[in-house]
Amino acid sequence: KPNPIDMAKYVSARRAVDYVQDGMRVGLGTGSTAAWMVRCLGEMIREDGLRITGVPTSTRTADLARQCGVPVATLEDAKWLDLTIDGADEFDADLNLIKGGGGALLQEKIVATASDMTVIITDPSKEVASLGAFPLPVEVIPFGWQTTKALIEESLIGQDVDGRAVTLRLASQLPFRTDEGNLILDLHLRRIGNPRQLSLLLNQIPGVVENGLFLDIADVVICGRQDGTVEVRD
Ligand code: A5P
Repeated sequence: KPNPIDMAKYVSARRAVDYVQDGMRVGLGTGSTAAWMVRCLGEMIREDGLRITGVPTSTRTADLARQCGVPVATLEDAKWLDLTIDGADEFDADLNLIKGGGGALLQEKIVATASDMTVIITDPSKEVASLGAFPLPVEVIPFGWQTTKALIEESLIGQDVDGRAVTLRLASQLPFRTDEGNLILDLHLRRIGNPRQLSLLLNQIPGVVENGLFLDIADVVICGRQDGTVEVRD
């Protein structure tokens, strides 16, 4: 059962699993909100006999899914997904997102893009007028990462943003490693004037694998509140 702090995330996840139907192949997102969705699916499998195949977006989510009794497959096996349910770090009025606070943006973007429908589960703390207050995660390969970082900094000069600091993400004072063994650079932009242009620009830089802007990917954003109510936007 969720504690009061998690109530908004829990009710959001509960509403999202209404989209899950028997036999579906479902992308399983990463993060504390998505974890509630995985627990809800486990309950539906145990108690209602729901049959689904889950495709996790991180080793963390794969471990949780197994613990909760959710059958897991790789995207290679599933090939295409009916639905993905995932969290986000920010969302705007156009349902564009920043993701990757948990470092799983690459698999999350591949899985969401391979899905007929993507439902994002959030709470009011993540709603913004324009994206960018949350530092934008960019996944880069370790080889030559300082050069990649310098190229990113240079490319930000002409961009409509309010901040330009780029930092290497650390975990326990060591460089954070993604599931693919890559590094994350966090771009402290404060406001992103043109997310589309920025996303294209970043992904053109050699060494950049993917960035955390999820544009035109979310079909539905569910925003759960502490009082147990939810708002569904599509
Ligand atoms: C993981 O890489 C992220 O994209 C998550 O989806 C995001 O950080 C949301 O996490 P919470 O639900 O824990 O806020």
